Amino acid sequence: MTILPKPAAEITAEIGGQDNVDTLHRTSRDFRSDTLTVPTDAQLLYALKASRGDDVYGEDPTTTALEKRVAKLTGKEAAMFAVSGTMTNQLAIRTHMKQPPHSIITDYRAHVHKMEAGGIAMFSQATTHQLFPSNGLHLTAEDIEPQLQLGTNIHISPTKLICLENTLSGMILPQEEVVKIGELAKKHDIGMHLDGARIWNVAASEIEKRGLDATKEQDRQTVLTELLAPFDTASLCLSKGLGAPIGSIIVGTREFIERAKWFRKAFGGGIRQCGGIAASADYALTHHFPRLATTHALAKRLEEGLKELGVGIAAPVDTNMVFFQPQEIGLSLDATMARLAALPDPIIVGRERCVVHHQITPEAVEEFIACVAEMKKEKQANGDIQTNGVGKEEKAKLDHYNKPNGKTTDAVLRKQAALGY
Ligand SMILES: Cc1ncc(COP(=O)(O)O)c(C=O)c1O
Repeated sequence: MTILPKPAAEITAEIGGQDNVDTLHRTSRDFRSDTLTVPTDAQLLYALKASRGDDVYGEDPTTTALEKRVAKLTGKEAAMFAVSGTMTNQLAIRTHMKQPPHSIITDYRAHVHKMEAGGIAMFSQATTHQLFPSNGLHLTAEDIEPQLQLGTNIHISPTKLICLENTLSGMILPQEEVVKIGELAKKHDIGMHLDGARIWNVAASEIEKRGLDATKEQDRQTVLTELLAPFDTASLCLSKGLGAPIGSIIVGTREFIERAKWFRKAFGGGIRQCGGIAASADYALTHHFPRLATTHALAKRLEEGLKELGVGIAAPVDTNMVFFQPQEIGLSLDATMARLAALPDPIIVGRERCVVHHQITPEAVEEFIACVAEMKKEKQANGDIQTNGVGKEEKAKLDHYNKPNGKTTDAVLRKQAALGY
């Protein structure tokens, strides 16, 4: 396990200023998202030395070098930098789509479908067919095959793209399933796009599983190339787990990327002197990627600590996210959040979803667990919680919601939809 340097040491008052030292401290206890990470002094000093050319003219060597680096890492011909994951997803989808009628298959929780302001309809004039995974966790080729819109029936908008997301709510999509879906897509001449906002987390997990070295470019390349092989294109966020201040990258064929640049221009997404932000992302890729395994270990610790208390965990913790349900021990989510936020050194969570990022400290995780333990103890002392750790009333409600008649139902699927980020 990689040991995280103390975040406090990463911004100094002399270089970053006291306000930013304080921001970093608050962020080290903020579980709302991995987008919240604070650029470090070293990262911004590195950015200072970046080239300062105009990337819309293709004349910024630092940006070009980052694009080449990510293309090579992912085994694709070319790459294109843009400001956000929403933009790279939407640009990729727009580039895949030619002319309506056309449709896209996604998981019903997919960010591209649910969280990008209806961008697919707006920019690509496409219909999204949202599918519900029959196993409740991830789509399979068996889920997708019968839903493909093929043939010449004029009532139907043909499937032109399958868009998967990995990780989704922190869960890893099994690669053997991705391969099967890729084969299915190929058979029907349908494109495959990956929203790989957090594919870095999948790669970090795989590197650890195989005993490879996350600091070695070759090991990263081996794993990322395999993960992305079934996809024609992928969008990889730099500003989530990696901790770049801005940026996301599309990878694909040279021809695809050239066309995507056209759309990036039309979206107003070209960046002139892009070098500084590309350099911050490049720094993050080199220095923060190896820390992802630690964020996963801390997420596991949070899961285990909460589980020991009887707290419900709503989704498998494969990487850096923990969806917790304190209602299982009779604590309301609102009360738990309020109590964590009221600690002398506050801990912030974004409802059920707790995201461990590279600046979260082990102390914050332990204090999180200790705070919930304290609340549980108080509840028990007040007689509100049964001694087996289950709040009768809340548990009955939750059980009814999750599994009426002991079966997984639409209610569970709706809950998972609510958890889709
Ligand atoms: C899975 C996923 N894809 C895409 C995005 C969009 O990224 P951005 O916020 O950079 O637009 C997000 C943002 O949280 C995300 O979680």
